Amino acid sequence: MATDAYLLDNRAAEAELRFAALGAVFDEVTLRHVDALGPAPGWRCWAVGAGGPSIPDALAARVAPGGLVVATDLDTRWLAGRAGGDVEVVQQDVARDDPPGAGFDLVHARLVLSHVVAREEALTRMVSALRPGGWLLVEDYDVLLLQWPSPDEDGPEQRLADTVKGEFRALLREHGADPRFGRRLPRLMRAAGLVDVQADAYFAVALPTVAALDQANARQIRDEIVQRGHLSAEDVDAYIALVADGRLDLTTPPLVSAWGRRPPED
Ligand SMILES: C[S@@+](CC[C@H](N)C(=O)[O-])C[C@H]1O[C@@H](n2cnc3c(N)ncnc32)[C@H](O)[C@@H]1O
Repeated sequence: MATDAYLLDNRAAEAELRFAALGAVFDEVTLRHVDALGPAPGWRCWAVGAGGPSIPDALAARVAPGGLVVATDLDTRWLAGRAGGDVEVVQQDVARDDPPGAGFDLVHARLVLSHVVAREEALTRMVSALRPGGWLLVEDYDVLLLQWPSPDEDGPEQRLADTVKGEFRALLREHGADPRFGRRLPRLMRAAGLVDVQADAYFAVALPTVAALDQANARQIRDEIVQRGHLSAEDVDAYIALVADGRLDLTTPPLVSAWGRRPPED
C-alpha cells in the first residue's frame, strides 16, 4: 500500500538498536567526511533526522568551545536527555517545517532524505539554512548501485537473505523511498546552488557490525514483510537467526556521501 509515512518509525524499540548499529557501521565514514570540511570551535551545525545521539555528540565535540549542534528529527525520543549545553534537540519535519535556525556552518543528514517523499524541497530547505560558504553533507544509500544485496549469493541461506532484503526494499519503495537517491545527490546539490560539489561511496561487503542493523530492521518490519505474502514469519525468523549466527556475509548498500558549499558571496 503506497504511503509517505516513514517505514522505520522511531516509536519501535528496535530504533534505538538501529541507531547504535548505524553508528557502528557508518560513523567512521561520516566523521571522515566531516573532518575533511574543517570543523572548528564556534561552528553552528544542524544534524537533520539525527535519530540517535552519536553524530550530534561527535559534532558537538568538534565545534566546542562556543559551537552549537541543533539535532532535529520527526521523532526525537532517542535524542531526549542527551541535550547538553552545546546540543539542542528540536522536533522538526524536514519535509514541511522551517529550518531550526539560519546561518549554519554545516548541515548534515545521513539516511534521511531517501525516506522523505518531498526530498528535493527538503534539500532546498537545508541549503537555505547555510551561511555563505557553509557546507552541506548529505549521505544516503543508493541500493541499485550494487547489483545484488548479497554479492556472493552462494546457497539457500544467502538466497533467503536476498529475498528478505528484496521485500524490505519493496516496502521502502511503497513508503515513497527513492532507491537511486545516492547517485542523484551531486546533481541536486549543484541545482540547489552549491559549489565545490563532490561525492564518494562506501559499503560493507562482509562485516559483523552489520548484524545488529539487519536484525533491528528485520524485527521491526517482520509483520509488514509477512503481509506482502511472499515470505512467512518463520522465513523472516530464520533469516534473523542466520544473521545472529554469523553465517552470512553481511553487506550494506552503497552509502553515497555528497558535499558542497554555498558560494561564499551570494
Ligand atoms: C534510518 S534513520 C537514520 C538516523 C541517523 N541519521 C543515522 O544515520 O544514524 C532515519 C531518521 O530520519 C528521521 N526522519 C524520517 N523522515 C523525516 C522527516 N521528514 N523529517 C525529519 N526526520 C525524519 C527518522 O525519524 C529517523 O530518525
